[in-house]
Amino acid sequence: MNDFTKIIVSENDIGRKLDEIAVRIREDYEGKDLLLIGVLKGAVMVMADLARRMPPTVQMDWMAISSYGSGTKSSGVVRILKDLDADLTGKHVLIVEDIIDSGLTLSWLLGNLRSRGAESVEIAALLRKPDAVQVEVPVKYIGFDIPNEFVVGYGLDYAEKYRTLPFVAILDPKVYAGE
Ligand code: IMP
Ligand code: MG
Repeated sequence: MNDFTKIIVSENDIGRKLDEIAVRIREDYEGKDLLLIGVLKGAVMVMADLARRMPPTVQMDWMAISSYGSGTKSSGVVRILKDLDADLTGKHVLIVEDIIDSGLTLSWLLGNLRSRGAESVEIAALLRKPDAVQVEVPVKYIGFDIPNEFVVGYGLDYAEKYRTLPFVAILDPKVYAGE
């Protein structure tokens, strides 16, 4: 497969980082009921691996929102495609995200979830790009700061492909040339 120019976060890197983050989360939420909210579909891998490092009482719920088409640039328009099943009243919520690029998606999501009566709402994201600084998004747990390149793998897609790779790689621009 020559669709990638470089692996920037290896499978081992991801595992070690999730171990570290999980220790912090377990300490911070000791004695509290924690609800992890994943954003479909990009967050499925990080959610699965993070949730399995949590106590077995942890709960998971999912939202699907759209801010991207099949292209590589954020549209800034957020739409709920699938809403949560859970009522957030009084809950400690941790949003689990794959990547923060412009931060538009997360800042919208944060406001939306905070308006539903949760006791607390925090964010854990595996990856963050430099543009994220443009929008004020308070991220409590962050995995890796990565360069401003379009990446795929470990849940992240290009046109729904490459999500199943166990690592994060820079997609060769030739794959989306002419878009
Ligand atoms: P934001 O609103 O610009 O922060 O975009 C966040 C969402 O865009 C992420 O949850 C991803 O689904 C998607 N995204 C951003 N950057 C990339 C990338 O490099 N590869 C694949 N998806 C990305
Ligand atoms: Mg996403």
